[in-house]
Amino acid sequence: MTLLYEGKAKRLYDTDEPNIVRMEFKDEATAFNAEKKAVFADKGRLNKAVTLALYKMLEKEGVRTHFYADQDDVNMLVRRVEIVQIELVVRNYVAGSLQKRTGLPEGHKLRQPIVETYYKDDALGDPIINDDHIRELELATPDELAHMREAGLEVNRIMTGFFEKAGMKLVDFKLEYGRLLPDKTEVVLADEISPDTCRLWDLETGEKMDKDRFRQDLGQVMEKYAEVLTRVENAIGS
Ligand code: TMP
Repeated sequence: MTLLYEGKAKRLYDTDEPNIVRMEFKDEATAFNAEKKAVFADKGRLNKAVTLALYKMLEKEGVRTHFYADQDDVNMLVRRVEIVQIELVVRNYVAGSLQKRTGLPEGHKLRQPIVETYYKDDALGDPIINDDHIRELELATPDELAHMREAGLEVNRIMTGFFEKAGMKLVDFKLEYGRLLPDKTEVVLADEISPDTCRLWDLETGEKMDKDRFRQDLGQVMEKYAEVLTRVENAIGS
C-alpha cells in the first residue's frame, strides 16, 4: 500500500478504504528537533500499545479521536484527517521548555493547567505561538482553536486521574488534532499519546519514565516505556 507520509516516529499508508489510513509506529527516536537521533528496538510496539490503550480509554470517556481499529504489533487503523498544524501542550507541573521560559523549578506544581500552542513546522523548530499568530497563519479558525483547548483540558482531566491510578504523575503532554475527512467539519484528537509525547514521573520516587530518559541520557529508556505500558494496561483492567 502506498506510503502517504513519513514523520520522525510514524509512517502513514493508504488502505482499501478511502478514508481509513494505517499508522505505523517506528522504532526511531529523535529529540531537540531531530538534532539527536537513535533507534530503540521495540519502541514502535510499545508506543502503539500505549496509544491504543489510551485512545480506547478516552473514547469510553466520550473523547472523539481518529482511532478506527487495532491492526498488529506496530500498526493501527485511523480515520483520515487533515492535521491541524498546531501542537497543543498541556502542563500540570513545570518541566522542559516551561522551566527554561519561566525559571520556575522542575516539578513545581502549577496553580492550574497551562495550555500552550506551538507551530508544527520542523523547518522553524516548532516555535511557540499565540492566538494572533494562529489567526495570521490561518492554522485554525477561532472555533477550532477554542474546541482544541477545551478538549485538551478535558483530556488532561481524564488522563491525570487515569495515570494516577497507574502510579504515575502526568507532568505534561502534547496533543495533535485533525479535521475528519471528507467533510473537515469535525476536529478530533489525532496522532499518538505515548511516553514519546507525555512526561510521566513515578508517583512515589519521581523517576522519569518517558522520552526525557533519551533526551537527558538517563538510560533504561525502553525498560521504562515497557513499565509504562504494563501499568497502563493494569490500570485499564482495574
Ligand atoms: P517541552 O517542555 O519540551 O516544550 O515539551 C512539552 C511536552 O510536549 C512534553 O511532554 C514533550 C512533548 N513534546 C512532544 O511530544 N514533541 C515535541 O516535539 C516537543 C518539543 C515536546
